[in-house]
Amino acid sequence: MRDQMRKLIVGNWKMNGTSRDVSEIIAIAELSGMHAAVDAALCLPATLIDRASQAAGGFAIGGQDCHMMEAGAHTGCLSAEMLLDAGAVLTIIGHSERRAAQHEQDSDIRAKAEAAQVAGLQVIVCVGETLDERESKKALNVVLGQLHQSLPETAASQWLSVAYEPVWAIGTGRVADTNDVAEMHGAMRAALVERFGEDGRKIRILYGGSMNGDNAAQLLAVPNVDGGLIGGASLTAAKFRPILSAAAALSK
Ligand code: PGA
Repeated sequence: MRDQMRKLIVGNWKMNGTSRDVSEIIAIAELSGMHAAVDAALCLPATLIDRASQAAGGFAIGGQDCHMMEAGAHTGCLSAEMLLDAGAVLTIIGHSERRAAQHEQDSDIRAKAEAAQVAGLQVIVCVGETLDERESKKALNVVLGQLHQSLPETAASQWLSVAYEPVWAIGTGRVADTNDVAEMHGAMRAALVERFGEDGRKIRILYGGSMNGDNAAQLLAVPNVDGGLIGGASLTAAKFRPILSAAAALSK
C-alpha cells in the first residue's frame, strides 16, 4: 500500500566534507540506526565514499553524480562502477546544480541513471522548476517534462526514487507551499503510474529544498511525499536528527 511506504531521508553534502567530518558521518549513521522505521542515506563527495562506507558500518553511503560510460577518456569523471567499488550503494543523478552548472540535459540524466542502475546502484533522479517557470505557471509542465525525459524506459521501484526540488527553494530557506507540493507530487505520481503501471505507485517521490527540523514534519505529511533530499540540514547529526524523527513519527 502506498501510505505504508517507508520514508526515505537522504542527505546531500554537495561539495562539503573532508576527513575531519567522518566523525559526523558516523554520528549520522548511528542516528539512523535509532530510527529503524526510516530508510536513510548520505550522498557524499566522492573522496569520502570509501572512508565513510568503511566507518559507517552498513549505513547507506552514496555519490552525487556518475558518468554514463563504463570507462574511458573522461578526465575528472567517475563511473557508476567506481562509486560502487568505493562503497556507494546509491547516487543522486540530475541535481539542478549540475543541470545548471554542468549543463546536464534530460538525455544525459537518463543515460546516467541507466548506467547507475546497470552497475547496481540505487538512483535518485532530480527534477524541479526555476522561480521564473513557477511564476509564469509553467512548473507542472516543466517538471513533468523533465520526469518524462530523464527517467529510463524500464524504471522500477526497487532501484529508483525521484526528487522534486524546486530550484528556488534549494539553499534559500524558502520552502514550497504545501499545497503546491501536494499538487506537484500528485501529478508526478499520476505520471509514474501512467508510465510504469502499478509499480509507479511504489516509486518514492522525495521533496527537496530547504527542508529542515522545523518544517520536515509538515512537508513529509503531504500526500505522495515519501521522503526528503536534504542539503544544509544534513551536514550535522544535530540538524539531521529532527528530520529523521519527523519521518519516523509518520512511518508508524
Ligand atoms: P537544501 O538543498 O536542503 O540545502 O536546500 C537540497 C538539495 O539541493 O538537495
